[in-house]
Amino acid sequence: MKVEVEYLEFMWPMRHFLITCGEFSGASNIIAVSFCFPVSKNPPLIACAVGRNSYSRKLIEKTGEFVVNVPSARLKKEIYFCGYHSGSEVDKFKATGLTPLPGRKVKAPIIAECLAHMECRVSQEVETGDKILFIGEVIEAYAEEEIAQKKVKVEYASGDFPRKVYSLRFLR
Ligand SMILES: Cc1cc2nc3c(=O)[nH]c(=O)nc-3n(C[C@H](O)[C@H](O)[C@H](O)COP(=O)(O)O)c2cc1C
Repeated sequence: MKVEVEYLEFMWPMRHFLITCGEFSGASNIIAVSFCFPVSKNPPLIACAVGRNSYSRKLIEKTGEFVVNVPSARLKKEIYFCGYHSGSEVDKFKATGLTPLPGRKVKAPIIAECLAHMECRVSQEVETGDKILFIGEVIEAYAEEEIAQKKVKVEYASGDFPRKVYSLRFLR
């Protein structure tokens, strides 16, 4: 017998990413996202679904830019902090100790502790429901040299359905 389920539970596990937005020299923020995936190779496009009422949505709309930072599994604690708190209430760089560095082509900071960075310029914005889907053109992509050359094996951050996020605040 098959029973009705919450469809999202069956989409996991997923990779986790840390998206940075805003300005290195002004207000900036970090949001944990799992709804983040490539949607075109040529042109290079990444789509990220960001909460309709999130602080990150405001910053991304203001600058038209964001950075997808790729964390290793070692940053799980920081990822969950960024996923449970809003930048409208707390400075997540200060609270997590993650280090902001200037982006190469965008105003948003990158996260020094992450392994790779995709700097994106928003090319389309789609209202999907409780999320806004930002489609960004990758204008610069770079990674730690030994990772780019596949000299080290990395365990990327990923995980199961974050029940706490969905139950407490996924409608943000
Ligand atoms: C592992 C994980 C994955 C998440 N994935 C998403 C996501 O794909 N999209 C989203 O809008 N929120 C996602 N969240 C929740 C946001 O990170 C959370 O709502 C955050 O507090 C919003 O921050 P902000 O208000 O500073 O933008 C996720 C949280 C966690 C812990």
